[in-house]
Amino acid sequence: MATAEQIKSLIRSHLSDDEERFHTIALQLAAHEARQGHGALAKEIRDIVEKAKRNRGGGNIIAFTPELGELIFNHRIEVRLAQLVVADALANRINRIVREYKQQEKLKKYGMSHRRKILLSGPPGTGKTMTAHVLATETHLPCNSIRVDKLMTKFMGETTAKLRQIFDLIAAEPGVYLFDEFDAIGGDRSLNNDVGEMRRVLNAFLQFLEQDDSGSLIICATNNTHLLDNALFRRFDDVLHYTLPDEEDRRSLIDNVLGTFRGRLGWKTILTESEGLSHAELDCACRDAIKEAILSDKTKVTTPILKEMIFERQQSHNRLSNQK
Ligand SMILES: Nc1ncnc2c1ncn2[C@@H]1O[C@H](COP(=O)(O)OP(=O)(O)OP(=O)(O)O)[C@@H](O)[C@H]1O
Ligand SMILES: [Mg+2]
Repeated sequence: MATAEQIKSLIRSHLSDDEERFHTIALQLAAHEARQGHGALAKEIRDIVEKAKRNRGGGNIIAFTPELGELIFNHRIEVRLAQLVVADALANRINRIVREYKQQEKLKKYGMSHRRKILLSGPPGTGKTMTAHVLATETHLPCNSIRVDKLMTKFMGETTAKLRQIFDLIAAEPGVYLFDEFDAIGGDRSLNNDVGEMRRVLNAFLQFLEQDDSGSLIICATNNTHLLDNALFRRFDDVLHYTLPDEEDRRSLIDNVLGTFRGRLGWKTILTESEGLSHAELDCACRDAIKEAILSDKTKVTTPILKEMIFERQQSHNRLSNQK
């Protein structure tokens, strides 16, 4: 069944007379159903949309076939740029992608195109996936994640054909397309394990990326930059590097997440104790602290509660690091 979010979006787009959006959401719904194994229902929904578009003289629809539906996951998470805690320089570069997207016609008049092919690199939990959602929110585009791991395993042998379908979809349906865990495709081509299929897939990917002149934003994210090779970096319009949060970032993040739950905090202790945690880990520590405050009938998160939750996250963090 469709998710509550999808139903609400469908109603919203209908009531705001946003036909294009209505069609997009209906197709996403079809993809969702296809993933649940409801192929017949997915086809029915697509047929209805296609017929409606044809009747109105609409353009081509590249349908999410059931197989493509398995590979592409649609999200609707509203996140504004202001919620992303990153250094100003990085925020400015993300904002530039949005500005260029919004004013692409202006650029086009001078033969320039807006930056659309972006590589995000950095440690886990520092905001790469979140950035794709931010870009989708700020540009009002739908956000689609491509399951690169599945593409490489389940469809081994036909990955290139699937990639072509994905790039057809990218061209037909404007959106933010996130190739997460991109190193599964983009591993260094000089490494021995990248023979045969892997090499073909990467070359195909690079070719599709180069040929693409759609209006979509193509985002590739990795936390393994050293695996990616130089030929690849050249194909992107921008490469953005993410880092673990510094003191100032950690303070902003804690402030944002705790919101009205923030009591008077001993910042020096909190900032020292939280060093080395990613944004995601610190975000979780803050949420744990809020829950703890609620359960103990407190209206504010205090230093001891937050410190304890940070300590717990540090322990899991260290355990994980030791296992690697
Ligand atoms: N820079 C950030 N600013 C604010 N919140 C963040 C930031 N980075 C991460 N978070 C929080 O952590 C969650 C997970 O982060 P996200 O999925 O974007 O990390 P990632 O860099 O994609 O990690 P991975 O490499 O593991 O995929 C976000 O949904 C958000 O709640
Ligand atoms: Mg991610």
